[in-house]
Amino acid sequence: MKKILKNNSNALLDKFNSSIMFDKRLYKEDIKGSIAHCNMLHKQKIITKDELEQITKGLKQILQEINEGKFEFKLSDEDIHMAIESRLTDIIGKSAKKMHTSRSRNDQVATDMALYLKKQNKKIAKKLKKLIGVFYEQAINSTDAILPGFTHLQHAQPITFSFFLLAYMNMFKRDYDRFKSNIKRNNTCPLGSGALAGVPYDIDRELSASLLDFKAPSANALDSVSNRDFSLDALYAISTLMMHISKLSEELIIYSSFEFDFIKMSNDYCTTSSIMPQKINPDVAELLRGKSGRVYGNLISLLTTLKGLPLAYNKDMQEDKEGVFDSIDTANISLDILIELIKTMKINKKQMRQACEVGHLSATDGADYLVSNEGFSFRDAYYAIKSLTAYANTINKDVSKLNIKEVRKSCEELKDVKEDILDAFKIEQCVAKRNSYGGTSPKQCTIALEEFKKWLKEQK
Ligand code: ARG
Repeated sequence: MKKILKNNSNALLDKFNSSIMFDKRLYKEDIKGSIAHCNMLHKQKIITKDELEQITKGLKQILQEINEGKFEFKLSDEDIHMAIESRLTDIIGKSAKKMHTSRSRNDQVATDMALYLKKQNKKIAKKLKKLIGVFYEQAINSTDAILPGFTHLQHAQPITFSFFLLAYMNMFKRDYDRFKSNIKRNNTCPLGSGALAGVPYDIDRELSASLLDFKAPSANALDSVSNRDFSLDALYAISTLMMHISKLSEELIIYSSFEFDFIKMSNDYCTTSSIMPQKINPDVAELLRGKSGRVYGNLISLLTTLKGLPLAYNKDMQEDKEGVFDSIDTANISLDILIELIKTMKINKKQMRQACEVGHLSATDGADYLVSNEGFSFRDAYYAIKSLTAYANTINKDVSKLNIKEVRKSCEELKDVKEDILDAFKIEQCVAKRNSYGGTSPKQCTIALEEFKKWLKEQK
């Protein structure tokens, strides 16, 4: 508001002090908030019907001008709030000057950001639902695809590819819930808090809140103008989402390498090398993996900006916007591209199954067999099978490929073991037997997918 203090323009100050070049993104929320505010002022007889009509008409014209790219954003206007008020004054004259009665830019900007994030939380949740739907389609077709499951990135136990996808579906469902709960948790309206202490007019804050679809007005003016928890909640939800996307991307990159060859990402989402003619690179997955850094940065940056600020508004808080906008943009484009990447991904079931024939993935099942059928304690069974795998290594075979003679020969403890033990080593059987709730068996995957189908239908 330097114009009120002095008339001469100071280009350097404008450049440093203004937020218009990034907060112009809030124009829809700002106009919506002003229309609601003026409706409330009229209902409370603070402005006349004629003034309300002029203001509303003028604001709608401004909305159209901005939508059509005809609005001139000037650094000297400082921010979107001043820019709109100043343009309204050009259009309707003195009635425009009544718009700011009983409010401050402090409650105005908090309201704009809260409205903007409500919309963005909804938009991201909707995209997450779409992403889960795309995963569902891949998962329903891969309950029979068996691949090695890893711990420490070493072959551990066999799992189905459907089960692998379901793991990510669960992560994205938690993300979805986080964005949805952000909307519920941040549902009070700061408008009417004034600069910091409330306002000396007979206003109706319930009305302003309900006109803007908030559940209630915020409870304490001092807190309301200082509160940016809704921005932090969004930044945290985006950080966790991008962490999940980053993990997934890493697996897609590994699984698409020559060494694994479990999946193939569509060439539409891969790129070529400028020097090595044979190469097709998973740039999209790599970028998705890399994007987590900047969104974590935005979260830490805002936490740092806010820490130690005295109540109430301080100009430091203008630094809240660019990071939030960047994270929102990153989440949106990342989800758009990930949806396409998963939709078009092809899986190589044969290669996955073949990879299960090394690394003794069914060793644990052999031990479980000895416990259930031969009266071994688990620890004795564990050591017997450890000897068996050591023996299998010497003849270059996987335990799933041994014959009974080889098993009996491997160690003293197994010399009389029944032939049935060979079934326990069969990869398909290992998978089918892990039929506990949440386990990898095709049956459990089908149950889990049914639950997801129902869940997808239930979400609005
Ligand atoms: N552009 C400011 C911001 O984004 C708006 C609030 C200004 N309030 C103030 N008292 N200077 O934070």
